[in-house]
Amino acid sequence: MNVLLIGGGGRESAIAWKISQSKLLRTLYVSPGNGGTSDFGINVPSLSIIEAIDFVKKNKVDLTIVGPEAPLTEGIVDEFRIRNLTIFGPTKSASKIEGSKIWAKDLFKKYSIPCAKSDQFSDLKSSLEFFINNDPSEWVIKVNGIASGKGVFMPENLEEAREALTEIFVENRFGKSGEKILIEERLHGVEVSVFTLVNNNKVSNCIAACDYKRIKDGDRGPNTGGMGAISPPSFWNSDMESKIKSNIIMPTVDAMINEGCPFTGVLFAGLIITKKGIKVLEFNCRFGDPETQVFIPRIKSDLLEILLKYSTSTLEENTHIELETIHSTGVVLASKGYPEKFALNKEIDGLSESNQEFGSIVFQAGTKSSNLSKIYTDGGRVLICVGLGKSYEESRELAYKKVESIKFDGMYYRKDIGENRDI
Ligand code: AMP
Ligand code: GLY
Repeated sequence: MNVLLIGGGGRESAIAWKISQSKLLRTLYVSPGNGGTSDFGINVPSLSIIEAIDFVKKNKVDLTIVGPEAPLTEGIVDEFRIRNLTIFGPTKSASKIEGSKIWAKDLFKKYSIPCAKSDQFSDLKSSLEFFINNDPSEWVIKVNGIASGKGVFMPENLEEAREALTEIFVENRFGKSGEKILIEERLHGVEVSVFTLVNNNKVSNCIAACDYKRIKDGDRGPNTGGMGAISPPSFWNSDMESKIKSNIIMPTVDAMINEGCPFTGVLFAGLIITKKGIKVLEFNCRFGDPETQVFIPRIKSDLLEILLKYSTSTLEENTHIELETIHSTGVVLASKGYPEKFALNKEIDGLSESNQEFGSIVFQAGTKSSNLSKIYTDGGRVLICVGLGKSYEESRELAYKKVESIKFDGMYYRKDIGENRDI
């Protein structure tokens, strides 16, 4: 098979790495890829939806896999399907589960899917009034549309609530995504990211991981795209998996069918385990980053074969993903200053052929290569070092050992990945 993988982050590096091992693969193209994906396939420049269709036809691509949410919410899957081109991912209308938090919340309410209670607002005056009457530290502000993980605010007091609402409604920082907001009850507990492959009413088993979103150790500082992850979490077991499947995943999958927008692709449930049960914080319509980088090395099955099955319109039975009984820890190496301003073009030392030695893998993310085969930083999250072991301790040790062998100017990482994710 010829495959086109869309995206260029650490998530796509992990998918490319795994797919390159498939017996079904002839040629893998990655658009735009990064400094590392050229080890597994051919990097091609960024493509618009129409350019991607042309590319797929010219290069006889049998399957297109979409990494990021933006092309999905723009309708790439619909455009491919009307041309009978096979693609892994949800349609534009099914992507609303991630693309509109208000739409998703209405769905949860209508179908009794457990989530935080909330109200929607579309102006400064009424939302500010809400916080004059309610303690801001018990609520969360969320912009409706896609905001690269930056659209959630947790004000501690009225002043912080006012600042967030001003950014949204006066400064228009989020454009269309911030025209409406949700103010949602603040929940407390351990978060878990749960991934399930879905094709209409057919679903795979779930894969779980925990993400470390804040920039600083001890889960402090601003939110980032994710500074590390572990998989599986220590508390994950088959009982929890079947509860999540029957109380959250299946009702959502059925609800989407009922609403006329059946889901295909990967359904990513961001859940929180509270004293009052497991609740949905959000759904995404794509693989998580950096969760994917830690769970993909645990997959025994041929991922390409499975993604192809979940892309076709006639999947007849649930197909499961076979997993190794190993633990995985991933530590993101970021550029100093991320998630705000950071420098680019710093040469990376310590990346060599041994990046996939037994027990650890380095996936590249914000990197680019030069003609001299040197690798330079080209983003906020630069690399992820993944350790694989028989225990958490072993996987952590291997991940941090790998971290020590890599250097670039301004390299920053959390020292506590693997800690504080018990229930
Ligand atoms: P989301 O983009 O909705 O996943 O939100 C990003 C992060 O904000 C989550 O991973 C949580 O850490 C936090 N968050 C979102 N909603 C809530 C909530 N209702 N209560 C507490 N924390 C939340
Ligand atoms: N790591 C969280 C996400 O991919 O949205």
